[in-house]
Amino acid sequence: MRPKIVAANWKLNKTLNEGLDLVQFLLSKTNEHDNVIKILCPTFPLLYPIHQILDKNKKFYLGAQNCSAFERGAYTGEVSAAILKSVGCDYVIIGHSERRKIFNETEDILKEKLHIALKENLKVIYCVGEELNQRQEKLHFNVVKNQLENILSLNEDQLINVIIAYEPVWAIGTGINATPKQAQEMHQFIRETIATKSTEMANNIPILYGGSCNASNASQLFAQKDIDGGLIGSASLKGDEFIQIIYAAS
Ligand code: 13P
Repeated sequence: MRPKIVAANWKLNKTLNEGLDLVQFLLSKTNEHDNVIKILCPTFPLLYPIHQILDKNKKFYLGAQNCSAFERGAYTGEVSAAILKSVGCDYVIIGHSERRKIFNETEDILKEKLHIALKENLKVIYCVGEELNQRQEKLHFNVVKNQLENILSLNEDQLINVIIAYEPVWAIGTGINATPKQAQEMHQFIRETIATKSTEMANNIPILYGGSCNASNASQLFAQKDIDGGLIGSASLKGDEFIQIIYAAS
């Protein structure tokens, strides 16, 4: 049985006090025994203060939204996987489409990040997903297959620490989610692609859906056979709505 996972990607939102307030609210509303793995991914400066609150109870895990492709040294402005681990992170998001597109992160850069994060014992939420024109041209399966190359090059000990997030770019922040059928079809394709390497790994790897997932559509999406939870953007910024999404997964 694969676990259900709900992860919040706060992106570039929430000041320190806003973030701490939201965490306190979520802690007051969540049940430790809801069988959902819950992950919060705030901005870098909020990680340690939030870790200090979360440390006292393990209702939520902490994740970063990015890490450096470098281990250490003269790289002004970067944050390494080892530093993330040292401030309480258990997870890191790698390959988000906003990083790929706005910050020009190539497959080679993402491969470096993936390996460094896994070496530092972080679990990786690795994002894939096609653009609208690629889907319209029926290239979406090919695009996602190519984006999975870095994952397929991992050994089994590494793969066990990877979660895949399918986030169609056209669904992110648009209010237009992939239909449960469209999402299930791609999640099944992703699982079949992993199965070319190992059937056991394919059966065990969690695959999350992201892209305008909210309290109204989460239950239907999470009910699909190959959808193991969600990576939530804007709906994770509102406490009540995020709690409803957690309930939908439990
Ligand atoms: P939205 O939920 O705001 O569409 O964002 C999804 C996302 O990019 C999560 O990583």
